[in-house]
Amino acid sequence: MAIWTLLHLLYFVLLSAALAPTLTTANPEGDALYALRRAVKDPENVLQSWDPTLVDPCTWFHVTCDGDNRVTRLDLGNAKLSGTLVPELGKLERLQYLELYMNDLVGSIPGELGGLNSLVSLDLYHNNLTGPIPASLSKLSNLKFLRLNGNRLTGRIPRELTKLKNLKILDVSNNDLCGTFPTSGAFSKFSEESFMNNTRLEGPELMGFVRYDTGGCK
Ligand SMILES: *[C@@H]1O[C@H](CO)[C@@H](O)[C@H](O)[C@H]1NC(C)=O
Ligand SMILES: *[C@@H]1O[C@H](CO)[C@@H](O)[C@H](O)[C@H]1NC(C)=O
Repeated sequence: MAIWTLLHLLYFVLLSAALAPTLTTANPEGDALYALRRAVKDPENVLQSWDPTLVDPCTWFHVTCDGDNRVTRLDLGNAKLSGTLVPELGKLERLQYLELYMNDLVGSIPGELGGLNSLVSLDLYHNNLTGPIPASLSKLSNLKFLRLNGNRLTGRIPRELTKLKNLKILDVSNNDLCGTFPTSGAFSKFSEESFMNNTRLEGPELMGFVRYDTGGCK
């Protein structure tokens, strides 16, 4: 009986020793970025340096880290990437700049991006993204630049986005959004230019006359 227990113990000790290298090299932020690499086609090999066996992603091209080796920037604008965004990107807690404009990304904007507490700039313009603008983006309290123009986004502009006090630039033009657009809070400083060429968008929300949630969206 005792020998049997000992053998079991030995088995588990050896097993965990065998697994140890993969566990110790795991870096959650590297894993999150690598999930993006796996989800996209990269004909120009701009992600070639993204080696998931390195201790962190800070030496990868197009990735910038802070002094604690946490990712602060992802600069992949105009990189000929096609494929989808991944929810794992929402784990990059210190990310300030998510620059993925002018690629050929399809699918929807993951609601998980609302978890990017430090985000200052979300640039997804000129892709081929579909689906709604996630209301969870209203949690990005540091956001200054939100450029989603030139996609095929549908649905209403979430009214919750008016809570984004620091928002300086908003561009959701050239999409397929519907309903009215909010004019209160952070949105009071944006002109119609931010919203143009959304053929089903009816115009500004008329406070006291037309309720935000009526009309224009099927
Ligand atoms: C966007 O996606 C649609 C449907 O998948 C495709 O027909 C179209 O060519 C794409 N547009 C661009 C600019 O890639
Ligand atoms: C309007 O937006 C759509 C979708 O992005 C785009 O394909 C089209 O070229 C835009 N039209 C104009 C006049 O800008």
